[in-house]
This record gives sequence, structure tokens and C-alpha cells, in this order.
Amino acid sequence: MVAILVALALFIPFSSSVNALSLNYYDKTCPRLESTITSAVKNAMINDKTVPAALLRMHFHDCFIKGCDASLLLASKGNQKAERDGPPNISLHAFYVIDNAKKAVEALCPGLVSCADILALAVRDAVALSGGPTWQVPKGRKDGRISRAIDTRQLPSPTFNISQLQQSFSQRGLSLEDLVALSGGHTLGFAHCSSFQNRIHNFNASLDIDPSLQPSFAASLRSICLAHNKAKNAGTTLDSTTATFDNVYYKSLLQGKSIFSSDQALLTTPETKALVSKFASSQQEFDKAFVKSMIKMSSITTSTGGQEIRLDCKVVR
Ligand code: HEM
Ligand SMILES: *[C@@H]1O[C@H](CO)[C@@H](O)[C@H](O)[C@H]1NC(C)=O
Ligand SMILES: *[C@@H]1O[C@H](CO)[C@@H](O)[C@H](O)[C@H]1NC(C)=O
Ligand SMILES: *[C@@H]1O[C@H](CO)[C@@H](O)[C@H](O)[C@H]1NC(C)=O
Repeated sequence: MVAILVALALFIPFSSSVNALSLNYYDKTCPRLESTITSAVKNAMINDKTVPAALLRMHFHDCFIKGCDASLLLASKGNQKAERDGPPNISLHAFYVIDNAKKAVEALCPGLVSCADILALAVRDAVALSGGPTWQVPKGRKDGRISRAIDTRQLPSPTFNISQLQQSFSQRGLSLEDLVALSGGHTLGFAHCSSFQNRIHNFNASLDIDPSLQPSFAASLRSICLAHNKAKNAGTTLDSTTATFDNVYYKSLLQGKSIFSSDQALLTTPETKALVSKFASSQQEFDKAFVKSMIKMSSITTSTGGQEIRLDCKVVR
């Protein structure tokens, strides 16, 4: 009993309330919703191959702060800085894709569909259009009215070890399997040097470079970041097939070619390491686990999160 109460206390204020959402939420009110969003994502991808990575990161970032309530999409107001202007916003981009999708959806079924649902659907499309699995998205999220830059401190850091990662995920109702499967999101996208400099410079008091990095890979990361140390945009792709949703991330991880300490940390417990090996050897197992965990993550809601249906994803009603 005490254990149950403690466990419940840990889940507050986060909870995965999959049951509150439903697959057919807009079937009657907005039957063409999903194809409209798919078109918006497809159109954006014609000109910008980084759109899927951006949307996936955006969704993760949003869901981990007060649940998936599109609080990340709100613009800062005067000197009140919003989440999207908070410190680890370096990789955030492609907000216009959601804005365009929202405009198209508003023209179709005005005032009915939340920005949070649009983002969740767009992410599903982004993954599928990158060669990944597809799935049905539970819908019915509400948009939040609160967005504070300071709350981005609640995001896990790329320097986290396995116990810190586990804690961050379990506070949101996510398991170690979810952690390993969702980290596979790093099969898409890019990292700036600032996000992994801890591994290639002053690693600890006795070593300059993280010894878990494969030596020539570490050398190439160092040269990228040294040669361009004045360019704010220097960095590297998160795996060697950056625009394809595949299991190369896990294969690279086993070869000492991960980018963040938080990726490497997945190899430091037998349970998580076994999952990494499983996903590295089977794309199908990865796809299956990723879908299951994405549905869980994208269903995180909180009592202080969603309240309304925004008309413009950047401003509260
Ligand atoms: C496990 C904890 C996680 C940590 C510590 C973490 C950290 C980071 C960091 C530091 C970046 C790069 C920022 C930059 O330098 O530009 C990044 C990028 C990215 N992350 Fe994660 N992340 C985590 C989990 C996730 C999850 C759960 C997903 C989605 C399922 C995800 C998807 C992405 C994507 C797609 C990018 C590339 C973004 C782009 O290129 O636009 N991450 N992550
Ligand atoms: C990140 O935040 C800074 C200010 O804190 C802001 O100037 C910049 O536009 C933000 N980046 C994005 C992509 O929103
Ligand atoms: C992870 O880091 C925290 C904080 O620095 C530390 O207390 C903990 O012992 C570390 N855990 C592992 C498994 O290294
Ligand atoms: C530095 O890291 C290595 C590898 O993790 C470890 O063996 C060593 O004890 C660390 N040194 C210090 C001073 O922490």
C-alpha cells in the first residue's frame, strides 16, 4: 500500500492517460483532418529534409514539459519568455510546418482541432515519410495556456547518466524500455557541438576524451568542432543515415559511435544494453517498440497542461 502511494506520488503531476484520448475523436467533426496534415508535412519535406527530425524533437520537448499540450508552440509575450525561447532550443526549428497545417485545418473545420493533436499527427507522418513505421494516433489533446522558458530545465540533459535518464522518464510514466526505444528518435537529425563537447574535451579529471567513443570517431568529432569552433552551427548528424528512420542509431551505438553521453548511457545496465542489441539486430523489433513508446509519450497529459483549442498555435485564446 505504501509502495503504491509512493508510486502514485511520483507520477504527479504527470500521467499517461491514454484512455482519455481516442482514435476516432475527429471522425465526425473533421473527417479529412489526417490527410490534410499529411499533405502539409509532405509539402514541407520537399524543400527541407530536416523537417521530420525537427517535428520529432519538438514533440518530445513539448510532451516532457507539462504533457503534450503544444505549450512549446506558444510565442514569447513581451519579456515573458516562452518554452521555445528557453536554453536548449538550439535545434528547434520548422514551427512553420505546424502553423501551415493549422491554417489548412482551420479552413476545413474551424476551432475544433488542437495544436497538440496536429503536432502528434504530423510527427507520426514525419516518421512514416522517413521510412519508419506508422501507427494510429489517439486524439483529443487540449492546448495549454502556460509556456515558460524556465521550465525547459525539466528536460533531460545530454550529459545524463542512466539513473538520471530513468528518473526523468519514470516521472512521466515511461519505462526503461520506453527510454531505449524513444532514444532511437536519434536516428533522425543533427547535434551541435555544444551538446556533446563534454565527451571530446575535458571528459574528466584524468581523460580528455570519453574512452567509450571509438577513437577515430572521437577524432572526427573533435576536428569538426575544433575547425569550426567559431561557427555556431558546427556539429554532426545523430547517425550516418540522418534523414532515414532506421536502426542504424543502435548499430552505431554498439560500435562506440554515439553522439551524446545519454546515448552511451544506454549501454551501462544489462537491461538497457540488451534492448539496444535487440533493436540493433532487428529493425522490426525497433519499429514495434518505438510505436508503442511513442503512443505512450504522446499521450502524456497533466492537470496544468491542456485547457483549450487554440486558433493560432502561437497565441492563447
Ligand atoms: C533520452 C533523453 C534525451 C536527451 C538527453 C536528448 C538530447 C538531445 C539533444 C541534446 C539534441 C541535439 C540538440 C542540438 O545540439 O541541436 C537532440 C536532438 C534530437 N532529439 Fe533528442 N534527446 C533525448 C530524447 C529524445 C527523444 C525521446 C526523442 C524523440 C522520440 C528525441 C528526438 C530528437 C531528434 C529527432 C533530434 C534532432 C533534432 C534536429 O535535428 O532537428 N530525443 N536530443
Ligand atoms: C531560442 O531562444 C532565443 C532567445 O532565448 C531566441 O532568440 C531564438 O529565436 C530561439 N530559437 C528558436 C528556434 O525559437
Ligand atoms: C548519476 O549521476 C548522479 C548525479 O551526478 C549520481 O548521484 C549517480 O550516482 C550517478 N549514477 C550512476 C549510475 O552513475
Ligand atoms: C575518467 O573516466 C574513466 C572512464 O569512465 C574512468 O575509468 C576514470 O576513473 C575517470 N577518472 C576520474 C578522475 O574520474
